[in-house]
Amino acid sequence: MSGNHEEKMTPSALTQEVIMRLEATPSPRLREIMQSLVTHLHDFAIDVQLTDQEWMEGIRFLTETGNITDSVRQEFILLSDTLGLSSLVDLINHSDVESLATEPTILGPFYVPESPRREFGESMVEYEDRGEPILIKGKVITETGEPIVGAEVDAWQNAATGFYAVQQPDVQPATNLRGRYTTNGHGEFLIQSVRPVPYPIPADGPVGTLLRDTGRHEWRAAHVHFKVSASGFKPLTTHIFDAASDYLDSDTVFGVKESLIETFVTDPSGQLICQHDFVLSPE
Ligand code: BEZ
Ligand code: FE
Repeated sequence: MSGNHEEKMTPSALTQEVIMRLEATPSPRLREIMQSLVTHLHDFAIDVQLTDQEWMEGIRFLTETGNITDSVRQEFILLSDTLGLSSLVDLINHSDVESLATEPTILGPFYVPESPRREFGESMVEYEDRGEPILIKGKVITETGEPIVGAEVDAWQNAATGFYAVQQPDVQPATNLRGRYTTNGHGEFLIQSVRPVPYPIPADGPVGTLLRDTGRHEWRAAHVHFKVSASGFKPLTTHIFDAASDYLDSDTVFGVKESLIETFVTDPSGQLICQHDFVLSPE
């Protein structure tokens, strides 16, 4: 009965076996990523003592996530967003606690390149939906406060109905509430728009089900998106959040940062103003 003397497979031996097999990966970076992924994935399964049924449920969830994904609906990114992974990758790659630059936050799925170029002070409202008029103004400046002339401020946001133009191709003009502005000789930008509103991320798929099963909601705090760029400076992707919005402390994709929350004020003429400067760091 030689079997009694043979070593039985253990979870840690199995993990080591997979890691050893991956040693042959020609790309050092792919090897590092795969070996670390396997280590953490196996540790996770051991940690929760994953059952057969739970493993199958995970497979079913991922299959459903794939099935609902197409060129417009990207459920895997939504999953990454709601698990905080997108914000984590953004932090790892674009955030520097030492930097004086404006804090970045995620791009999101509703960015469309090549928005119309708009004049200083031009409105980006192309569809009347009774949103509250707002002026978005500020400067693009260096870390030492010098104005950056000719910087591009690419802005996009949702309408008062909660939807971005790309979500409603049959309702809103494609360029509604999108525009590329250029800073003037003082580094200033001025945008006429409407107050952004909180909105739910698409929640009719497996990610929505998971949010509900984990006692979470699908709402994002009200915000305007910006991509700010200028020659010689690192490009910035960020938001400005409305301080009066709900969900600032529970934004479903973990995009809120304290420094990006702005109080909108009403000036003596009754005009609502959102004022915020963007600081770029040198390349
Ligand atoms: C957005 O801000 O547009 C967004 C970000 C992540 C998921 C869904 C929407
Ligand atoms: Fe958004």
